[in-house]
Amino acid sequence: MKKYRIGIVGATGAVGQEIIHLLEKREFPVAEARLLASSRSAGREIQACGNLEVVKETNSDSFKNLDIAIFSAGSQNTVTFADAARKSDCVVIDNSSAFRMDKDVPLVIPEINGDALESHKGIIANPNCSTAVALMGLYPLHKRFGLKRFFASTYQAVSGAGAEGVTELENQVKNQISNEPSPPPPDSDPVFQHPIAFNLIPHIDDFREDGYTKEELKMRNETRKILGIPSIQVSCTCVRVPVLRAHSISINAEFDSPVNVPDARTTLENFEGVELWDLPNALRYPMPINYSEKELCGVGRLRLDHGFSNGLAFWVVGDQLWKGAALNAVQIAEELISRKCLKNL
Ligand code: A2P
Repeated sequence: MKKYRIGIVGATGAVGQEIIHLLEKREFPVAEARLLASSRSAGREIQACGNLEVVKETNSDSFKNLDIAIFSAGSQNTVTFADAARKSDCVVIDNSSAFRMDKDVPLVIPEINGDALESHKGIIANPNCSTAVALMGLYPLHKRFGLKRFFASTYQAVSGAGAEGVTELENQVKNQISNEPSPPPPDSDPVFQHPIAFNLIPHIDDFREDGYTKEELKMRNETRKILGIPSIQVSCTCVRVPVLRAHSISINAEFDSPVNVPDARTTLENFEGVELWDLPNALRYPMPINYSEKELCGVGRLRLDHGFSNGLAFWVVGDQLWKGAALNAVQIAEELISRKCLKNL
C-alpha cells in the first residue's frame, strides 16, 4: 500500500495532538510524520505514528518532500506558510478560517460535499467546529425535507480555545473548590475575558457592527458554502460553557416540505457519521461527556418544532476537536487519496 508524507503544523497544540492520535487510530498510511510548531517547541520529542519525532520550527523549507500538510496553528500562520507549502507541491488542509470563504478553496465535510475536493487548487479548508457539528445533523434532514432556514444556539467547550483554555478552566475550578485566594494575574492575558468556571460567556470571537460575533457569522456563511444554498437564512448565538470537550448545539430548523419525526429519525439513522441517541424517557440524549473522543456526532431531543409549520427541533453534540477539526481534516486527507486527487497542482 502506498504511504504518504504528512506534515502537521501546530503539532504541539490541542488539535495537532489529536491529529497525531487519529492518524494512528485510523491506521492512515504514513510514510513520514513531520511535526512542525513554533521555535518555542523546536527540539521537543513526541511519539507519532510509531516513531519518536523531533518537533521542528516551521519555515518556508518545512514542506519539501511532503504530500500533505495539515495546519492547526491559527489563521496567521496559515497565511504565512500556505504558499510555501503549495510551491513544494504539498496539499494544505487548513483548520483555520484564513481561506474558508475563498472561492478557490473547497470547504469540506467529506460526508456532505467530498466531491468539492475534485476541484481543489492546493488548499482545502476545514469548517468551523460548531458549523461542522451542526451540519452533521442538518444535512441529512436537508436532503430529505429541503432546508429553508434555521436558528442555532451553541454550547462550546473550552478546548475550542486551545490547550490553554482547558488549563484556565481547570485552574479556576480548583481555586474555587479549594477556596484559595485568587492567584496573581498570569504573565500572559487570560484566554477568556470573564471567569469560565461555573459561568457561561455569550461571546466567542469579536463582535461585529450588527451585534453578531464573527463566530456566529461563520455558522451562516460556511453553511451557505458547504450546502451550496447561498440564500439560506441562519441566526446563531454562540456561547462558551465550562465543559472540557465536545460542542453541543440546539437547532430549530424550518423545511420546504412537510416534516414528520419517524422519517426524520430514519433519515438520521441512515446517515454516515451520525448516531441517533434519542430515548428521552430512558434519559438518553447526547451529552458532551458521552461524545468526547467519539468519531460520531449524536442527535437527540428530535421533535416537531412548535414555532414553524414544517419545523424540527433537535440537539446535536460532537467532539469539536475531532469532527470539528482533527478528524474532519484526517478524513479529508483520506478522501483526497481515495478520490485520487492528491495531485500536484
Ligand atoms: P507552540 O507549541 O510551539 O507554540 P493551541 O491551539 O492548542 O494553542 O496550539 C497552537 C499550535 O500552533 C501550537 O502547536 C503552536 O506551537 C503552534 N504555533 C504557534 N505559533 C506558531 C508559529 N509561528 N509557527 C508554527 N506553529 C505555531
